[in-house]
Amino acid sequence: MTADPVELEQGSFWDDVDDLRARLAEPLPRIPPWFGYDALGSELFEQITELPTYYLTRCERALLERYGTDIAARLDCPRVAELGSGSAKKTRLLLEHCSAARPTTYLPIDVSHEMLVLSAERMADLPGLTVTGLWGRYEAGLDRLRDDGGAPVAVLFLGANIGNTTADERAALLARIGATLRPGDALLVSADLVKPAGVFETCYNDPPGHDAFARFRLNHLDHLARRFGGAVDLDGLHAVAHYDEAADVVDGRLWARRDQTVVLPGLERTLELRRGDSVNVGFSAKFEPDRLHTDVARHGLRAEAEWVDDEHRYGLFLFRRD
Ligand SMILES: C[S@@+](CC[C@H](N)C(=O)[O-])C[C@H]1O[C@@H](n2cnc3c(N)ncnc32)[C@H](O)[C@@H]1O
Repeated sequence: MTADPVELEQGSFWDDVDDLRARLAEPLPRIPPWFGYDALGSELFEQITELPTYYLTRCERALLERYGTDIAARLDCPRVAELGSGSAKKTRLLLEHCSAARPTTYLPIDVSHEMLVLSAERMADLPGLTVTGLWGRYEAGLDRLRDDGGAPVAVLFLGANIGNTTADERAALLARIGATLRPGDALLVSADLVKPAGVFETCYNDPPGHDAFARFRLNHLDHLARRFGGAVDLDGLHAVAHYDEAADVVDGRLWARRDQTVVLPGLERTLELRRGDSVNVGFSAKFEPDRLHTDVARHGLRAEAEWVDDEHRYGLFLFRRD
């Protein structure tokens, strides 16, 4: 029997209208990443993780299989929280070791209620593990961890989620993580490492015969429109990801094949798209390990260990709060 997730924001993150209006008013309108994770989007993301060209999930799973015992021993905390836990399939590989060593409370933080319920069910057979899902955005989850003021905590940020932010958003989030953790607490971050553009453009677009990426990206705008009383001409949009080498970022966009006006009555806004205009539906920043260390170290977190695959594609990086 698993408990329902704790509701941190009363589901209000979907209706953060000021934030949504501001993003839609930018020169390149942006839909927040969490809008991609309603029930349909979460299911589509799971399909993406199984695409033959999407190497990130397989790389991360292989690292956790290979080094999970060592990583869990270093985490060694009675509480393990996870930002953007999703299905938590890979996290289980770590939690098996953590909960075998000591009673552990797992605190997954996610906007997807469906995934929180599913991930708790997935862990139900692990003796020594208690799961309390925290339903809300990262910031609300971190505030809850801080205010609980309880036992030491290891925060996991897996799935290369740290890259799904702009540089400013990332700095603000890392500052919040730094302010939440107490001396001795840990942060385990996974990051996709910089590679030639062609590798990313193959990985972040659908291979022939698949459409999970396109449907996932279209669902961001469709979900937004459904929520605010509008409708989208989905056939009039084309989903493509491009790698910006100057910024080391994969930029996922919807491009208008023809003019359309998306009226959003609940937001009191319209999104005017002329043929050739685009909307951003997600960034995936890529990292050199040194840059990640520098970004994180600014917030009082010291690099302690790292595990990178033999081909130097992907890494897990452990930081400690001094
Ligand atoms: C790229 S998926 C990764 C899922 C999982 N960590 C994995 O590796 O398979 C991102 C997850 O983060 C959640 N998410 C995205 N933005 C979020 C936010 N601001 N606050 C809380 N959860 C968020 C999504 O619902 C989704 O489950």
